[in-house]
Amino acid sequence: MRIIVTGANGQLGTDLQRTLTGHEVFPGDIEELDITDFAAVLRAVGKIRPELIIHGAAFTDVDGAELHVDRAFQVNAIGAQNLAIASEEYGAAILYVSTDFVFDGGKGEAYTEFDDPNPLSVYGASKLAGERYVMALTTRFYICRTAWLYGRHGHNFVKTMLRLGEERGSVSVVDDQVGSPTFAADLAAKLVEIGMSGRYGIYHTTNAGSVSWCGFAKKIFEAAAMDVEVKPIKTSEMQRPAPRPALSVLRNLTLELQGMEPMRPWEEGLADYFK
Ligand SMILES: NC(=O)c1ccc[n+]([C@@H]2O[C@H](COP(=O)([O-])OP(=O)(O)OC[C@H]3O[C@@H](n4cnc5c(N)ncnc54)[C@H](OP(=O)(O)O)[C@@H]3O)[C@@H](O)[C@H]2O)c1
Repeated sequence: MRIIVTGANGQLGTDLQRTLTGHEVFPGDIEELDITDFAAVLRAVGKIRPELIIHGAAFTDVDGAELHVDRAFQVNAIGAQNLAIASEEYGAAILYVSTDFVFDGGKGEAYTEFDDPNPLSVYGASKLAGERYVMALTTRFYICRTAWLYGRHGHNFVKTMLRLGEERGSVSVVDDQVGSPTFAADLAAKLVEIGMSGRYGIYHTTNAGSVSWCGFAKKIFEAAAMDVEVKPIKTSEMQRPAPRPALSVLRNLTLELQGMEPMRPWEEGLADYFK
């Protein structure tokens, strides 16, 4: 299959490129294909004529988005609009990678694909706007929401914890936000499976199970065999620009209902990260 991957040099994009063996892959990041440039997007898609576009590029700085609101919408909403129009124009399916931050976290239990989004942050709102463009402008789309992503490539919570643990020997981590840490290699494999399935629609794609950031940090140090003290703190004790959902666990219900293989427990993904 001919596949364009946007955000190809990012955390997920790198693992997608590794996973997509046996396909004709056209990786693009901001240097090669700025998704906010409509003419360039149309030109690239028209020239490559892909069968599938895996759209992972995004403005992913959640706190930065509160300060750079227009830019967040330009990349996450208009970027998705541009790719949606181009994919429809040239007959490609599109897989848009979205986020648990489209939910407000107030449900009190895991969200399914059939729950209504209500983002708390600019980042969440801009990603939801991207989802809506993709749904409105294309006939063959997959929207795959993921969460708490970490991979071998790029910046993420696991790497931050390892660095802080090494430097300080003790870390304070919020204990009142719960989610599903998701290993980028596992996600890449699942996205490729979904993108080949022809079963268009909305998917939640996270590793199974859930944990607080504090619990996740403890598991990271355990897996790394590091003796680091992890102190639980409340979200209210952290001064961060973007509000975050308290409980944004995503039940992967579409996968279940369609009889597709569930993603493995997050602890197994983390163990593989350290292999
Ligand atoms: N990370 C998470 O915890 C998480 C959770 C839920 C969902 N997601 C979603 O998962 C996807 C992948 O996330 P990730 O962690 O792999 O993000 P990432 O490492 O930040 O990768 C995103 C890539 O997109 C590129 N990009 C930014 N603006 C662009 C533009 N205008 N044109 C083309 N490329 C552009 C970035 O380039 P620069 O680095 O040069 O800006 C970066 O290489 C995103 O859609 C994100 O919203 C992530």
